[in-house]
Amino acid sequence: MSVPSLNELLRLGEAKLSLSLNGNVMISTYTNIDDTITEKIMTIDHTKFRKDLRYSWKELKSRISKPGFFCLLVLLDGEPIAYDFGYDADDKGVFFSDSSASIIERKGVGTVIAVLEMVYLYENGYKAVKFTTEELDQAGRPLRQIWENLGYKTISTDPISGVTMMMDITQDVILQKIRRHITQI
Ligand SMILES: CC(C)(COP(=O)(O)OP(=O)(O)OC[C@H]1O[C@@H](n2cnc3c(N)ncnc32)[C@H](O)[C@@H]1OP(=O)(O)O)[C@@H](O)C(=O)NCCC(=O)NCCS
Repeated sequence: MSVPSLNELLRLGEAKLSLSLNGNVMISTYTNIDDTITEKIMTIDHTKFRKDLRYSWKELKSRISKPGFFCLLVLLDGEPIAYDFGYDADDKGVFFSDSSASIIERKGVGTVIAVLEMVYLYENGYKAVKFTTEELDQAGRPLRQIWENLGYKTISTDPISGVTMMMDITQDVILQKIRRHITQI
């Protein structure tokens, strides 16, 4: 069984989230974003992250211009509610998934966009994805556990840089995540 295309899975992800959020969900992807989209991401970032973790306009712009930039943006009834973005890590073939947030939590949005990101990475020949997070954030979200449940493995923990997590991008892994979180294929 081969991995369905990202385009196909975007539509299936929209259908799944439209049901769980009881509205019209659209998921767009970008490899380059203009100021209007950057503003939407910054608004979500500022809503969901505490002050010391929020990205300034300059910090966001510098990330958007990094090689390999890729972003998913979710709209519910035309309103931006979630994003996920990253870019090439220093290690060859590895994607650094820099940030992800959803205004509406525990309805599957974070999972769907994480899996769609994996599908993009698979289609584009990446061998792994990594990111840094916290064990537990200020709101009590068990972030390491949330991502471990999705299949990421902790590769290091550091009091300053936090928890670094990683997942290999292989056909088997991607098919398993799609089946579990997007659609039965
Ligand atoms: C982390 C985040 C993106 C997850 O998005 P989400 O849309 O809520 O995730 P999902 O609905 O797909 O949840 C997946 C699973 O994670 C776990 N989970 C999510 N939020 C949780 C919480 N507050 N407490 C415990 N488990 C939680 C659950 O197991 C959940 O499945 P369940 O709802 O069936 O129990 C979202 O909480 C968020 O935007 N947080 C603020 C920003 C942030 O911390 N970003 C991540 C930085 S690494």
